[in-house]
Amino acid sequence: MINVYTGEELSLIRESARLVAKTLIFIESQVKPGVSTLFLDKIAEDFIRSNNAIPAFLGYGGSRNPYPATLCVSINEEVVHGIPGGRYLKDGDIVGIDCGTILNGFYGDHAKTFLVGNVSESCKKLVEITRQSLDIGIEQAIEGNHVNDIGSAIQAFIESNGYSIVRDLVGHGVGRKLHEDPPVPNYGKKGTGAVLQAGMVLAIEPMVNMGSWRVKVLRDGWTIVTADKKNSAHFEHTVLVGKDKAEILSQA
Ligand code: MF3
Ligand code: CO
Repeated sequence: MINVYTGEELSLIRESARLVAKTLIFIESQVKPGVSTLFLDKIAEDFIRSNNAIPAFLGYGGSRNPYPATLCVSINEEVVHGIPGGRYLKDGDIVGIDCGTILNGFYGDHAKTFLVGNVSESCKKLVEITRQSLDIGIEQAIEGNHVNDIGSAIQAFIESNGYSIVRDLVGHGVGRKLHEDPPVPNYGKKGTGAVLQAGMVLAIEPMVNMGSWRVKVLRDGWTIVTADKKNSAHFEHTVLVGKDKAEILSQA
C-alpha cells in the first residue's frame, strides 16, 4: 500500500526533509582534504540532535548487523552505505554523503556527491550527470504517471551519457518509515508500475557508475562498491508527488 500524505502529516515530513537538507549543507561546508569520515559523522549527529531530531540510519536494520552511523559516506568506487571511520578525504576524491532524519516521527532522506579539492574532469562530469539525472527523474513524479516513468527517464539520460545505472538498489516511498512502498527503481519501462497520486512522497536516488552497473557488498555487510572498481555517484531527494509538478522537500 502506498501512503498518500496530507495536512499535518505532510507538514511534519516537510520539516524533517528540510532539516536533512540543512544538515547536508552544513556537512558540505566541512568536506575538504584531510577531514576524517568519522568527524563528518560526529558533527552530523550533533547537528541533528541539536535540532531535536534523531539520525534515521543509526541502528537501522535490526539486531543482526545494525547500521552503526548517522551518515553513509561513500568514496570513489563506493556506491552507497559506506561506513564512516578512520579514513580521511583526499584531494581528487568524490564523496557521496547520505543522511536521514526522524523529526516528530517523520523521516527525511537526502544524499549528494561532493568534490574533494581538485577532481578530474571525468569525475566531475560523472557527478554532474548524476545530479541532472535526479532532476530528470523528479520531473516525472506527477499524478497520473507510473512509478517506472521515473526510472525510465533516469536510465535513458544516464545511458545516453555512456554511464550505467545500478540495479541492485532502488529508491522508495518515505514518510512514517524510512522505507515505504513503492520501490522506485532508477531503470525500467515507461508506463509500468503503480500509478502516482498527489500526496505520495518518494525518495528518488539514482546511483550511477562510470563503468559496469554491477556492484558487490564488502565484508562489513553494508558498503556497496562497484564490481570493476570504477567510480560511482549518488544523489537523493525526498520528493512530493504533485498534480502537475513534483516538489523537492529536501531543500533548506
Ligand atoms: N538512503 C539510503 C536508503 O534509503 C540510506 C539507508 S542507510 C541505512 O536506503 F543504514 F539506513 F540502511
Ligand atoms: Co533512501
